[in-house]
Amino acid sequence: MSGVVLKNIRKSYGAVHVIHGVDLEVQKGEFVVFVGPSGCGKSTLLRMIAGLEEITGGEMYIDGEQVNDIPPSRRGIAMVFQSYALYPHMTVYDNMAFGMRIAKASAEEIEKRVKAAADILQLTPYLDRLPKALSGGQRQRVAIGRAIVRNPKVFLFDEPLSNLDAALRVATRIEIAKLHESMSDAIMIYVTHDQVEAMTLADRIVVLSAGRIEQVGSPLELYENPQSLFVAGFIGSPKMNLLHGARAASFNCSTVGIRPEHLEIAGHTGGQWTGTVIHTEKLGADSFLYLDIGDDEPMTVRENGTTKYNTGDTVSVKALDGKVHRFGADGKPVKV
Ligand SMILES: Nc1ncnc2c1ncn2[C@@H]1O[C@H](COP(=O)(O)OP(=O)(O)OP(=O)(O)O)[C@@H](O)[C@H]1O
Ligand SMILES: [Mg+2]
Repeated sequence: MSGVVLKNIRKSYGAVHVIHGVDLEVQKGEFVVFVGPSGCGKSTLLRMIAGLEEITGGEMYIDGEQVNDIPPSRRGIAMVFQSYALYPHMTVYDNMAFGMRIAKASAEEIEKRVKAAADILQLTPYLDRLPKALSGGQRQRVAIGRAIVRNPKVFLFDEPLSNLDAALRVATRIEIAKLHESMSDAIMIYVTHDQVEAMTLADRIVVLSAGRIEQVGSPLELYENPQSLFVAGFIGSPKMNLLHGARAASFNCSTVGIRPEHLEIAGHTGGQWTGTVIHTEKLGADSFLYLDIGDDEPMTVRENGTTKYNTGDTVSVKALDGKVHRFGADGKPVKV
């Protein structure tokens, strides 16, 4: 039983139950991303894997060894947090070497590993600098480098990029993807709120809701075949349009879901649904139209390029073939 295995893992703080029995197996070399609304238990689960939170119930294994009562330092894990917490008075090199020095590694071994990590993360030119002389993205890369030199079996990341600006986020995301490719045996478990990070980094995404797993699957499995209304609404940005009442009844279901990118504008009339444009967002590469269609939430429509429609226009849309999701009253997909 290699990898990270969670069996019926539970967590309570006194009488408050926050994780209700999670089963999950993460294989060697796999990149797994946890997503879910704020407060659903992502960090708690990660911290239990790290050994920073006590496990209330269930069993956890890392490489076949039950680790429930094993301290963090002996689990073979390294964790990278949102706030990178570098030692301000130490150079980049010393920040990365610190853990190995504590572990009494030889000077040659330390130098070899720090240089290798710096190379992977493109930090070599900065090894003599203090953290204050680095950008946010460079600092976060040092924090990741500190994890790499420990050569862990499991990397745990809790929203490591959320303090970075958009451009640095993209650059560092790519560094993390490359890091994963270069370490074929390492397991990475990564918490994020960012849809793009989840979709691009994950081999599998775990969608959590209120302390339970809603669905586990590859990014495209979750996108194409959400097994619940919750997952349908959570995966994808902007989110899937959900239509109810008579609109759903005409599809023989309780809720019809169509993603904004799967709607096509038919013109002013002639589509399946017609509404008034209440707002537009023109981003250059694409545009978003928000249509007031009556009873349901405003419908979001994605159009390539710059839309010619404006607020107040009447616009009619239709769903692309095969792109309609149907859900029953129980929130589960209706089988065709
Ligand atoms: N020490 C604690 N005592 C009581 N409840 C706690 C404690 N720590 C966390 N919780 C609760 O556990 C639940 C899960 O928290 P957690 O931090 O894991 O959520 P999260 O999914 O990481 O959220 P976010 O996306 O906001 O970071 C929350 O409802 C939180 O209030
Ligand atoms: Mg959290």
